Amino acid sequence: MAKTKTAYVCSECGATALQWFGSCPACGTAGSLTETITERGLTRAGSKAGAAPVSLADVVTRELPRTGTGAEELDRALGGGLVAGQVVLLGGDPGIGKSTLLLQAVCSLGSDALYMTGEESAEQVAGRAKRLDLDAAGVQLLAETQLERIVGALEAAKARVAVIDSIQTVWSEALQSAPGSVAQVRECAAQLTRFAKRSGTALLLIGHVTKEGAIAGPRVLEHIVDTVLYFEGDSHSSFRLVRAVKNRFGAVNELGVFAMTEKGLKGVSNPSRLFLSTHEKPVAGSCVLATLEGTRPLLVEIQALVDAAHSPNPRRLSVGLEQNRLAMLLAVLHRHAGIPMWEQDVFVNAVGGVRIGEPAADLAVCLAIVSSLTDRPIAAKVAVFGEIGLAGEVRPAPRGQDRLKEAAKLGFEKVIVPRANQPRGKIPGLEVVAVERVDQAVQVLRSL
Ligand code: TYD
Ligand code: MG
Repeated sequence: MAKTKTAYVCSECGATALQWFGSCPACGTAGSLTETITERGLTRAGSKAGAAPVSLADVVTRELPRTGTGAEELDRALGGGLVAGQVVLLGGDPGIGKSTLLLQAVCSLGSDALYMTGEESAEQVAGRAKRLDLDAAGVQLLAETQLERIVGALEAAKARVAVIDSIQTVWSEALQSAPGSVAQVRECAAQLTRFAKRSGTALLLIGHVTKEGAIAGPRVLEHIVDTVLYFEGDSHSSFRLVRAVKNRFGAVNELGVFAMTEKGLKGVSNPSRLFLSTHEKPVAGSCVLATLEGTRPLLVEIQALVDAAHSPNPRRLSVGLEQNRLAMLLAVLHRHAGIPMWEQDVFVNAVGGVRIGEPAADLAVCLAIVSSLTDRPIAAKVAVFGEIGLAGEVRPAPRGQDRLKEAAKLGFEKVIVPRANQPRGKIPGLEVVAVERVDQAVQVLRSL
């Protein structure tokens, strides 16, 4: 049996070196060499025999049975629960509640669950389970970080669901790199994935997010696993979101909402409450925008205040939105919708401290301004998006369908969208009003 061999491979040019260099000897890129297994100890049997393809149409498919995790909101993000052999990566900032969420999940499974902890001691995990009043009887605990021993323990335990907390603490003896390095994380995740597929155990890997927002370096894990969930939250609030960004067994951009309480994470069954403004009844100058944060849809309240100016130079101030764009939108409102504002101070604000850079916020800004100027509130459960051009046209925004789905999911009933973003099919529970020009949008607002 040949020994497992490793080499340092450049991620830029593919050159190999037998030892680590600060920069690639071939192409000179700094920090691009990572340790990689070049030859495995075990040769795979029958690898010489030709594989036999089958007709795609003949493959029998079946409904995959799903195991609920006990946390309803987590199941929602997973698309209905865990599938046997599924590998899920849960990423998020330190201290956001990843360990808490998955400890609660395995405890509510009742039996056949294993929790591997490499970050905290067994006592710490047990102490937390006790504090949260969790039923720990069916959960086996493993305080171990060495991959080969973990895989051995997983084989013996024959668990239905296993949690690895966290993948960055696991190290394989086949590699010399430090735990948490790209090479270790990639190799350990690949080996654990092979185990999951072989045994049918569903694996939940906890992964730390680096400063750049990627899990363990440049997305090394995301393509290995079946499902990638991100755990997000604002440090100012107790609300936490679990969002699927990749899922081989369900839809992406599914959202689970939790609140962190002194008794752990509790699912929030009606998340629209969080995102809707806390006004008791609609107020003038507020408009909900369906925006995208990266590739993820998000609903944000845009507020505007229009007030009589007391100086010859009225003030135009925007917080969280582009300042120059505000001046442009006011000019468009005047020229194309006949709404003059040269004697008014105009302030706009994106609620919650978010920064919105995308032009699709234009329509929401305009409607919030018109609502404040006319002192007429926009009805509740109305969301808006769309870019406004200098000719007064409402231009389409990217990924309109995702925005609409998010609005529907969060309980919105009506959306005002650019004509080109009008969905072909009907979205249940959502009335879509398509507009082509800014004056038309203002008309729609008056009729609400
Ligand atoms: P944890 O699950 O350890 O985070 P992660 O594994 O993502 O690093 O969560 C730690 C935080 O959660 C900690 O700052 C305290 C808070 N917390 C509560 O507010 N209530 C609770 O019941 C628990 C267990 C934790
Ligand atoms: Mg943790």
